[in-house]
Amino acid sequence: MTKVKIASTTDVSSDKVLKTSANGKSVLVAKVGDNYCAIANKCPHFGLPLAKGKFENGVITCPFHGSKFEICTGKNVEWVDSFVGIPLPAIAQKMIAMGKSPTDVANFAVTQEGTDLFIDS
Ligand code: FES
Repeated sequence: MTKVKIASTTDVSSDKVLKTSANGKSVLVAKVGDNYCAIANKCPHFGLPLAKGKFENGVITCPFHGSKFEICTGKNVEWVDSFVGIPLPAIAQKMIAMGKSPTDVANFAVTQEGTDLFIDS
């Protein structure tokens, strides 16, 4: 693992995620409270990007099927409940889940040096 700069504190706000990269991997970074947090920009459901999802109270919603993840922990807090923003009944949620169990998204510890933010990647 190598330490990689992902952003400057001045690039990151608390109301939206910043899409960046580290060693060729797409990463999302955001500020939650006083903390800078980062996750992989790759939904564990089908591997689709999370970057355009709604971000609110430290949680990002996958724009494809509505799974929700805490950006500071990667924890899955909701699994496959919609299709491109349209809520689905339980039977349709099961079909869209395609047998995949709720899974956390990869997250990264963010370290700060001055105004630079780093992750190990
Ligand atoms: S790709 Fe994210 S919930 Fe399906």
